[in-house]
Amino acid sequence: MSAAGSPRVVDLRSDTVTRPTAAMRKVMAEAEVGDVVFDDDPTVKRLEAVVAERLGVEAALFVPSGTMGNQIGIGALVQPGDAVLLPAFAHVARWEGGGSAATFGATLVHVPGESGLPAIEAFEAHCYGPHPKAPRPVVMALENTHNWSGGRVFSVEKIREYVMWAKGRGLACHLDGARIWNAMIVTGNTAAEHARGFDTVSVCFSKGLGAPIGSCLGGSREVIARADRLRHRLGGVWRQAGILAAAALHALEHHVARLADDHARARALAELLARHAIGTPLHPIESNIVHFAVHPRFSSAGALVDSARERGVAFFPTGPASARLVTHLDVDDGDIARVDKAFATL
Ligand SMILES: Cc1ncc(COP(=O)(O)O)c(C=O)c1O
Repeated sequence: MSAAGSPRVVDLRSDTVTRPTAAMRKVMAEAEVGDVVFDDDPTVKRLEAVVAERLGVEAALFVPSGTMGNQIGIGALVQPGDAVLLPAFAHVARWEGGGSAATFGATLVHVPGESGLPAIEAFEAHCYGPHPKAPRPVVMALENTHNWSGGRVFSVEKIREYVMWAKGRGLACHLDGARIWNAMIVTGNTAAEHARGFDTVSVCFSKGLGAPIGSCLGGSREVIARADRLRHRLGGVWRQAGILAAAALHALEHHVARLADDHARARALAELLARHAIGTPLHPIESNIVHFAVHPRFSSAGALVDSARERGVAFFPTGPASARLVTHLDVDDGDIARVDKAFATL
């Protein structure tokens, strides 16, 4: 039961719905802070140093959101009219309001292909030649794990092939690593290994790591200085953000290894979908996201979502006949048992 006495809803809408833990709130309350614009917030500086070290890059910037990390990361690499090649259904292409185009004049080239990582041949086919009529291909942007493909995880070796191809074509590389921590847990590689070869890397603390707000953009000192100018321009430079940086540092220390539990619970949810004839995963379950085709016995994904909500399980449709479940810090084994009971009555 929740504090208000109403039955608890198992919230599987996203891994962004987590509330800070008591321990996290404590470090936030006690954080040493300063003014970021005056460059004297020690906790923000510490976070940026820790993240730069983890990503194996020279510098990192603490920013309000993954969207801003992606936007200024790409913005620092393009001129108006330049083309950014990225997988169709990348978060940058699908969910960031056309920001790269609207704010930085980039042409987003959606490379078609399955499961978040189209074949290199597909990237090659969309990397238009040097003809002056063509948008100049300048950036390849990848996403790992890939949200829309059900949290698919791409290995360091696989990503390396793409980075090598991009470098060979003279492209800079941006990584949307909002869930790089989940990728690390699955592959056993470090964040630096996942980030290797990318010019800009955006990572989030407000997803599976359970911090309330915040992301970092990593890269070379030079590229981060350019991104910082864009951050100022967009109003993304905050003041006593040490309170939030403290939450991010706490999350990095305490909430990374436990992501394995989220992944196991996502697999358990996929089994429940099969056991109760609710749906079939659209992709292998590799991390904390279960994107599934809704069983035809339901008139629509919306109808399934509404019925589940009445039984205390919240999630989103992703299309007329598909939906998504996401596990996170605030979902435990008791919640999975509750979902089992709820699904059994659908
Ligand atoms: C892969 C990916 N990148 C970026 C973002 C954007 O993060 P934010 O919501 O903090 O802007 C999200 C949000 O869910 C995401 O899933």
